[in-house]
Amino acid sequence: IRRKKDTMLSAHDFAAKLYHHLLRNTDHGENARNYLLNRQIQLATIEEFALGYSPDSWNTLLYQLEKREYPLPLMEEAGLLSRSENGERLFDKFRGRVMFPIHDSQGQVVAFGARALGDAQPKYLNSPETPLFNKSQLLFNLHRARTSIRKQQEAVLFEGYVDVISAWQAGIQNGVASLGTSLTEQQARIIRRNSEHVTICYDSDQAGTLAAFKAADLLEKAGCFVKVAQMPGGMDPDDYIRKYGGERFRNDILLHASSVMAFRLQVIRSRYALSDETERMQYIHEALTEISHLPSAVERDHYMRQLAEEFHLSLDALKLEQKKVFKTQK
Ligand code: CTP
Ligand code: MN
Ligand code: MN
Ligand code: MN
Ligand code: MN
Repeated sequence: IRRKKDTMLSAHDFAAKLYHHLLRNTDHGENARNYLLNRQIQLATIEEFALGYSPDSWNTLLYQLEKREYPLPLMEEAGLLSRSENGERLFDKFRGRVMFPIHDSQGQVVAFGARALGDAQPKYLNSPETPLFNKSQLLFNLHRARTSIRKQQEAVLFEGYVDVISAWQAGIQNGVASLGTSLTEQQARIIRRNSEHVTICYDSDQAGTLAAFKAADLLEKAGCFVKVAQMPGGMDPDDYIRKYGGERFRNDILLHASSVMAFRLQVIRSRYALSDETERMQYIHEALTEISHLPSAVERDHYMRQLAEEFHLSLDALKLEQKKVFKTQK
């Protein structure tokens, strides 16, 4: 088994170098180079993240693997090759895509995320689970970010590969991403092992908001102090950095991250038309319910005061109302 894994690792290392070479130095890579250029990903970043390109061909990698006598069925098991429906032929799994190598915590390439250059579906094609690659136990970029995360005792959790890369390019080196959108318990524990503080910075669309809620829960359960940073109007961190620059991203977004409760209240608030009296009362009631879930009396008091201030209510009235909420919960 050891030997099998070593061969898979060696093949991934080789594939990453091949894809990188094809992107940097060949005509095949031209469209991908332009694609990255358009996304304002610089050469130094392409080098740092060892980005690559898999040509739109059935056998570019296959041919090179064969030449180097890698056992092809094992390469299929490693997720680098796919098999035709009738089972007779093997071919390159990744074709015509920008390749993002995914490293394990020791910095060895164990998988790839692969983005289409245009609107082809799926947008991202990822390596399957293999003996090397356990998605739920891996964070993209952890091996690079770890030093910075430990030094600052702060990690930034993103949704996407490009968010991490854009942030890195803007000097934010403590970013990692869960692979796919939903963080797992194991990933939360890994983050906690490296840092007590986490800022979640997911896309500010509906999917991202929902995922941020869930991630916040898992991270708090793992023992982290969690904050949530939000971009305006449906943007993701990469969109924001491209539009406003890294400086503003750090100062206006990351440093303005809210507590999980403030984030929750904000999201709940956005579902009500507060100018309508009935809806306003409904919001206050729902907010009270949320606040009453907080284990700390000091924190409960803090958010109650905020709510009282915001709606010009007396704190006493709110507290009375909250007692009712507590009762119905029991
Ligand atoms: N993802 C995936 N498969 C998909 C779509 C998304 O694995 N079909 C994962 C990728 O890791 C992606 C992350 O989910 O980076 C976030 O998805 P999304 O916000 O849709 O992608 P972006 O990272 O914003 O991609 P891009 O900026 O390249 O469009
Ligand atoms: Mn290079
Ligand atoms: Mn998204
Ligand atoms: Mn996104
Ligand atoms: Mn994006």
